[in-house]
Amino acid sequence: MAEELKIAHGGKQECYDQLYRQVVTLLNGESDKIANMANVAAMIHYTLRPLWTGFYRVEGDELVLGPFQGPLACSRIGYGKGVCGTAWQSMQTIVVEDVELFPGHIACSSLSRSEIVVPVLHGEEVVAVLDIDSTEVGTFDDIDREWLERIVALM
Ligand code: SME
Repeated sequence: MAEELKIAHGGKQECYDQLYRQVVTLLNGESDKIANMANVAAMIHYTLRPLWTGFYRVEGDELVLGPFQGPLACSRIGYGKGVCGTAWQSMQTIVVEDVELFPGHIACSSLSRSEIVVPVLHGEEVVAVLDIDSTEVGTFDDIDREWLERIVALM
């Protein structure tokens, strides 16, 4: 994770507070969903510095890879499959402390050790998921959940 997040225990809150405000500014006046996903993925990635940050969009009965930053990833994930498909199905954020302990986890990269997946909701419908992968176990917690849910609610 980013040095910014490692420096101080309270640093994560400040980091997200700044990120949130940047996303508000960035999304202001732009309605194109792909453009916004691309910029939000880049902004999160270059702030938190995880292994991978990106979106999967709901297309029929599958998630299809959308804008991302990081290594190559799987193109399609089925409903209820992996962490992403499970977050889509449950319409809930999933924090995975150790990917080896999540049954059905889809390993797009062998370097991924923990993960958070946040559904992007339009009304009662999941239209996409935000997925962030870390090379370290236990990277994500309720602070990440809370802020990332606030960020995707802007989209
Ligand atoms: N690990 C995810 C797959 C997507 S990649 O991590 C980018 C999952 O289990 O759904």
